[in-house]
Formats: sequence, structure tokens, C-alpha cells
Amino acid sequence: MKQLKYLKILSFAKTTLEDYNNWGETEVYKASQELSNNKTILEEQQKTFTVKPLNAKEQLDNLRQQVKDCKGCPLCKTRLNAVFGEGFENADLMFVGEGPGYDEDHKGEPFIGKAGQLLTKIIEAMSQTRDTVYIANIVKCHPMIDPSNPEKRENDRPPTPSEMQVCKRYLDMQIDIIKPKIIVTLGASSTKGLLNNEDPISKIRGTLQEYNNAKLIPTYHPAALLRNPSLKKFVWEDMKKVMHFLSTGEI
Ligand code: URA
Ligand code: SF4
Repeated sequence: MKQLKYLKILSFAKTTLEDYNNWGETEVYKASQELSNNKTILEEQQKTFTVKPLNAKEQLDNLRQQVKDCKGCPLCKTRLNAVFGEGFENADLMFVGEGPGYDEDHKGEPFIGKAGQLLTKIIEAMSQTRDTVYIANIVKCHPMIDPSNPEKRENDRPPTPSEMQVCKRYLDMQIDIIKPKIIVTLGASSTKGLLNNEDPISKIRGTLQEYNNAKLIPTYHPAALLRNPSLKKFVWEDMKKVMHFLSTGEI
């Protein structure tokens, strides 16, 4: 806006000076030429200032910065790194876990510990990679049983409903930007956090749900599969539904 006003003033000044020039004032003529040059420079600058819409990657980068600086809940005080999420900015398939654990907190990347390695295998068994899907959590900072000790292992806990409530806005914005066709919630926390549904995960898993214009299928958390490998077959059943939907558009 300021630039526009400046342009108008310049243009007015130029016309006035040109009028003077008709009276033969050489100095005034020079000044008028200079103003005219400035106007051209300003117009060029104006072109580069016109707002270009940000692409999905740029929007995610901006949001990542906001999350890095977020002090929205007490988890900000003890996190080593906020864990924003990673993957393809236009992914059709998005996985949503509960929150960073020890390894994720230390490295700032989602699902890289033991449960994360199992998730990577599941993704690869679906003929995808971590770079073709998007992986995020409903809470971006590490929920700890003993918050005074981020260096302690086995110190993870699920996020509380209020932590999820506050942090979910970032996940919602990620979903708005990425526009996945289908979301897989991993475990009870992210499923409850997104759907406000009190059904146990054993009941709701594999059922078709909707969230923010995307289909959603809840399944077990990979950490649950590490504790109880007999659950793997259910996750595979659920992932087959997801693959079928992605290849046919039908569920
Ligand atoms: N568990 C989660 O829910 N998310 C992670 O990023 C890692 C482990
Ligand atoms: Fe902010 Fe979410 Fe981290 Fe809480 S968990 S500080 S809301 S980014």
C-alpha cells in the first residue's frame, strides 16, 4: 500500500515538474527525468512484490518454523526438539501417531525408534516409502512420565487430551496443506484425539471414518505390535483396505 501511495505522489510530482519544464527550467527537467527513472524502478520492484501463493512445501516450511517456536502447552519446556513431521507434501496417504518418544525427541524426526522402524516396514510392504507418504503425530513434543529427565529411556507416555486439543491445530493445518486422500491413525490416542470416539481401538480399527475431507482408517500402533505380534495380521488387513482405496478410489 505504501508503495502505491509513493507511486502516486511520484507521478503527481513528475507531471508538475514537466509543467515547469514547459517553461524551460533545465534543472527542473533533469529532476523530472530522475523521478521518471525512479518510477520505473519502483514499478519493477512492485512486480516482484506481487504476492505469489506459497506452494505446499513452502507452507509446510512456514508451519514447521511456528511449531519449532511453539509454547502452546507445557511440553515445550522439556522438549529437546519439536517433531513436526516428514514426507511428501502432496501425499495421498498420511500416518498419524501419538507423539515423539526418546529417539524422535533427540533427532527431531518422527517414528525413527523401534516402533518407527516397524512402521517403515509396514509402509514398504504397502509398496510405498517414507518419501511417498507423510508421517506426523497428533502432539509434536515429547510427552514424558518424568519431565525432568529427557535423557531417560522408557520415559514416554501418551499425550493427555488437553495436550492433544492444543496441538491438534498444527496437524489440522498439515492436513489442509497436504490434502491426503486417506489418513491412518496409529493407536488409540490419535484415533480418539481426531475422532472424539470412545470406542476401544480393538473395536474401531479397520472401520472407515472421515476427517477433514479425507477418509480415515484407525489401526493399532506399531508399538502395540512389538508388544503383541499377534496383532500384526489385523494391521495388515487394515492396510490392504487402504491400498485398495488408493488404487481404485473405492473402499
Ligand atoms: N510413537 C509415536 O506415536 N510417534 C512417534 O513419532 C514415535 C513413536
Ligand atoms: Fe506446542 Fe504442540 Fe509442542 Fe505443545 S506439544 S508446545 S502445543 S508444538
